[in-house]
Amino acid sequence: MKLWGGRFRKEENKLMEDFNSSLHVDRRMYLEDISGSVAHVNMLTQCSILTREEGEKIREGLLSILQDIESGALALEGEYEDIHSFVESHLIQRIGDTGKKLHTARSRNDQVAVDIRLYARRKASDVLAAVEELQESLKTKAEENPSIMPGYTHLQRAQVVTMKHHLLAYAQMLERDKKRIRNAMEILDESPLGCGALAGTTHLIDREITARELNFAKPVDNFIDGVSDRDYLLELMADFSIIMMHLSRLSEELILWSSQEFKFIEIDDAYATGSSIMPQKKNPDAAELIRGKSGRVYGSLVSLLTTMKGLPLAYNKDMQEDKEAFFNALDTTIACLQIMAKMIASMKVLHKNMESAVKKGFLNATELADYLVKKGVAFRDAHSIVGSIVIYCEDHHKGIEDLSLEELQSFEEKIDQDLYEYIDYHNILNKGTKVALKQ
Ligand code: ARG
Repeated sequence: MKLWGGRFRKEENKLMEDFNSSLHVDRRMYLEDISGSVAHVNMLTQCSILTREEGEKIREGLLSILQDIESGALALEGEYEDIHSFVESHLIQRIGDTGKKLHTARSRNDQVAVDIRLYARRKASDVLAAVEELQESLKTKAEENPSIMPGYTHLQRAQVVTMKHHLLAYAQMLERDKKRIRNAMEILDESPLGCGALAGTTHLIDREITARELNFAKPVDNFIDGVSDRDYLLELMADFSIIMMHLSRLSEELILWSSQEFKFIEIDDAYATGSSIMPQKKNPDAAELIRGKSGRVYGSLVSLLTTMKGLPLAYNKDMQEDKEAFFNALDTTIACLQIMAKMIASMKVLHKNMESAVKKGFLNATELADYLVKKGVAFRDAHSIVGSIVIYCEDHHKGIEDLSLEELQSFEEKIDQDLYEYIDYHNILNKGTKVALKQ
């Protein structure tokens, strides 16, 4: 079953065999491995390195393996070193000696590089779709909730905003996340097939043919680079890490907002869990898990960065570690995006509680200062006057809008009856650039 047994006098140690095997990880690339092989064989035939009959036989063998894997008739297991050995061994079993010609003018180094690029490209599209699904759910929830809420800085009540504008902030972050992923997809869009182990081949193959058949923009320019670089995986994992950072911030807010202290939202039962001892508890587990799993995705990125950093050119077996890290980051990111989309779509926004929170935090203090500026007071003076008014309000347990005109005028004579309209929490959003908070 070994692809490379010829040069060895002894059997491989069993522990070593298990240690070396990556089939349990790389088997998920079976489709890419077979597509890459089919493209390679088609090219070998077109370049007259294989006869038409040989090419046809190998192609049919490969496609029958694909069919059987997909139908479940052929399980992706056994004592194979990796998915490449699995497919090639089964091919030889099925079609005999002609199967031994598949690997002509190819190395597992360019083979694995093309597999992981194809796989990463396909899965990056799935991530884009999952990001879009979350954006849709944020936008719908935003449209349904133009209601006012406190906006925060330093987690202290700052100014009036709307739930709509707040949720749309996340939709914007995700828009940039998509751009980053598309950019990574564009950068990885070069075919390494034909680089060989690191130095090309003495056969006159045509790398343009395989690049075209596998839908790559072009073949890579440099053989050594083509088999030894994994920066496209790192770039995608960096993008996934940024997505997870965004999801983690959103999770943190959902956790805060669903607490008794905030009570701005209620997470749907379907995305919460209870406590085994405290009967009253409803915990925001989905949000906590997403926040927690951001660590796993960052960890995968750092793990592969560390694996790659000291490697001499070209291929080194260390690089087999790329897949576990990449798959882990990928699966986690997609799962978190999907759960978050559903959690947002099903959560209930508690408008009344948000509105009463708005009324408690002097969220119209900045607008009072703006009002004074309109009446001719310099902003820095206005800031100081409002500061004194806030101290007075705190001492008397009142909001600014609860003060009488006489009380207000004792701080600044220029304050008039029209002040009340100006600092009304709902009216605030009709003034200046703040209209954007409602749009
Ligand atoms: N399983 C290997 C990997 O993922 C495939 C390439 C093996 N190449 C080699 N020269 N041993 O990296």
